Amino acid sequence: MSYLNTLFHSVDLGANLTLKNRIVMAPLTRSMADDDLVPTEAMAAYYGRRADAGLIISEATLISQDGQGYPNTPGLYTQAQIDGWKNVTQRVHQNGGKIFAQIWHTGRVSHSIYHNGELPMAPSAVPIVGHGHVPRTENLEYETPRVITVDEIKRVQNQFAIAAKNAIEAGFDGIEIHGANSYLIDEFLHWDTNRREDEYGGTVENMARFLLEIIDQIKAVIPEGKIGLRLSPQAYINLEHDERDKEVFDYLLPLLNQYGLAYVHTGMFSDTPYEHLGGTVTQYIRKHYRGTVIASGGYSAETGATAIEKGDADLIAIGRPFIANPDYVEKVKQEKNLVEYNNEMLGELI
Ligand code: FNR
Repeated sequence: MSYLNTLFHSVDLGANLTLKNRIVMAPLTRSMADDDLVPTEAMAAYYGRRADAGLIISEATLISQDGQGYPNTPGLYTQAQIDGWKNVTQRVHQNGGKIFAQIWHTGRVSHSIYHNGELPMAPSAVPIVGHGHVPRTENLEYETPRVITVDEIKRVQNQFAIAAKNAIEAGFDGIEIHGANSYLIDEFLHWDTNRREDEYGGTVENMARFLLEIIDQIKAVIPEGKIGLRLSPQAYINLEHDERDKEVFDYLLPLLNQYGLAYVHTGMFSDTPYEHLGGTVTQYIRKHYRGTVIASGGYSAETGATAIEKGDADLIAIGRPFIANPDYVEKVKQEKNLVEYNNEMLGELI
């Protein structure tokens, strides 16, 4: 029973934000926004049903049309989208929950079908290899992206800040910068995708610059302590691992201690040990980052509680089980059996 005691404790995230338990709903793309990428009433009901999590992190949400890579993913760059999210955040708050918006640009994990025939942008012109076809298309392959210019870098960074401000206007309790899973920010942090020779590539300091400037810009427009960050030091999806990547994160993670973030969150599907990292990705983050850490990747309530008890993390994010079980938290509390997740569940918001 002790693992329940571990999980059902309130946690102070700082900035007047207290979570009622240590269970976080992981960000989960559902592709259910309407055709203007506005969150729907069904999405408000879906998030509202999960408000007994200590914190909900929204599905990845676009900072601009340029950032889109999947169908019907919501945005935070038009007034209609902000209003749609207001409905979601109100529902979560009415039900006693807290919710952060995960803000996102897909970088090269996109396709010209989303950009009027123009190629998607990425740090360098390096295509995704061997990934199969673009989601929800019959046979479109990923293309070789075009190199983002320094002017465009500045524009995208500004769009991250505007989206963060819009998130606060929409009633979110904070934002999570999607710096994980091989999307645009993560592409700057890995050697395979970042082959630049300007001030945004070539050295660990330069590779971290794109992200750190985004954090600075967001800090200038939203209240202190409302910024979380998701990172994937270990490349695992849409990205080739390079042994040198660790040097980038050895540099970045200790620096983040100065940024007053709400938390750093592991982006992994399975948080297993890696020899070169000296443990799991979460343990590796913990070693370098002194603030609040959220673990994720294949955890159950019980194994998550163990990670917390061992001191590896402060909070545990749960993804797929939350899709299958809207009442996940209640079931854990009452030690009831969970419905097992399968991919067919992605067709419907329950
Ligand atoms: C994800 N994941 C994910 N991650 C993220 O940072 N933003 C996102 O929008 C999504 N979307 C998403 C959709 C679906 C259908 C799945 C299955 C996963 C990753 C997710 O947050 C989590 O890290 C993984 O699912 C691993 O945790 P679980 O599912 O093992 O608890």
